[in-house]
Amino acid sequence: MRKRISPASAIRGEIALPGDKSISHRYALLAAIAEGETRIRNYSTGADCHSTLGCVRALGIEVEGEGNEFAIRGGGLEGLRPPAGDLDAGNSGSTIRMLSGILAAQAFGSRIFGDESLSRRPMQRIMKPLGEMGARIRAREDKFPPLEIEGARLRPIDYAMPVASAQVKTCVLFAGLFAEGVTSVTEPARSRDHTEIALGEFGAEVRVAGRRIEVTGRPRLIGRDLYVPSDLSSAAFFIAAALLVPGSRLVIRGVGLNPTRSALLDFLAGMGAKIRIPDIESHNGELSGDIVVEYSALRGGAIEGGLTAALIDEIPVLAVLGAASEEGLTVKDAAELRIKETDRIRTTIDNLRRMGVEAEELPDGMAIPGRQKFRAAEFDSFGDHRIAMAFAVAGLRADGESAVEGAEAASVSFPEFWGTLDGMT
Ligand code: S3P
Repeated sequence: MRKRISPASAIRGEIALPGDKSISHRYALLAAIAEGETRIRNYSTGADCHSTLGCVRALGIEVEGEGNEFAIRGGGLEGLRPPAGDLDAGNSGSTIRMLSGILAAQAFGSRIFGDESLSRRPMQRIMKPLGEMGARIRAREDKFPPLEIEGARLRPIDYAMPVASAQVKTCVLFAGLFAEGVTSVTEPARSRDHTEIALGEFGAEVRVAGRRIEVTGRPRLIGRDLYVPSDLSSAAFFIAAALLVPGSRLVIRGVGLNPTRSALLDFLAGMGAKIRIPDIESHNGELSGDIVVEYSALRGGAIEGGLTAALIDEIPVLAVLGAASEEGLTVKDAAELRIKETDRIRTTIDNLRRMGVEAEELPDGMAIPGRQKFRAAEFDSFGDHRIAMAFAVAGLRADGESAVEGAEAASVSFPEFWGTLDGMT
């Protein structure tokens, strides 16, 4: 699908966005191995989170509901059933990596696969720790999906993660739920902590000390009522749109503000963004609040070290903002970007250049000078949801009509994106 984008004169109004993708995956997977019913409100409408629900159903768990409200009836740690066929993770790295931690501990074997993009993403990062726990997993070329998981009795480990990845952390902690004893994970930099919070909500024993997280195996997880705040990573596109287009003022309702995710807001504030959060509330241990954002002249900035991990999903849209800022943007320590849904260093720079914006590619990042003009362009999503949405935002500031080819990719995390954008411009 090719979507046309006209330059915007101002972005104003109030919007509500779908539930957080990261939190939705975790609630659905934990509900599947908890006892009794879990009701989830504002579940992500994105295709990725529906891949997780599809897998949960295929494992014999009753899932009822539609839209963004679901009831999941789990049967406890031993409640999953052998799937009739292969499990389909679609485009979702979270689904395959997190669910593998659970599948590795089952009394039955399973096979999990994904689409073309997911089939090129590395899985050794979960195969290694799961292997140390006693799991038996085979992969294409020993590293790519599909994964064939035999199912085994797992033992606890203390795992020092070589890269900061919340998906890997979650995979190991989920596997640890099935092992007798205490499993720990130590991260090189703090990654999003939705798993730690959700485990506590379902009744598991979790202890966090700095960058080390421990979970005690064989807990009794209990189903419960949960609410998912709106996705800050989806909000990022509208925040960026308002910051980029003069005269804009936007209110985004009920956005997740977990401190391990909200570095985005601090970073933008540091660049000079006018962002306010009048009130903060808490649902099931997760903070949320309305975000009020106004057009702002941005100074520019540098993303590196631990900050890179905290902003990893937002870098494509921050690159767009950087090009329009006074001093530009540099991104370092972001080699992880190369193994996301696309090589996001390449796909971001490719699209920046299409609109006449200069950008230098670095092995682990990019350097983008500031004060650049955006020419109308034909962008390509390369099948990557965040690239589609980042360049839709860029098009709002261009000097004529642009288009995004492969616009349907947005539905991986945010099916309502184009409708919401059309409604505001
Ligand atoms: C996610 C973790 C991040 C992020 C992804 C969602 C999660 O991936 O990029 O969009 O929900 O745990 P990594 O764990 O690979 O860094």
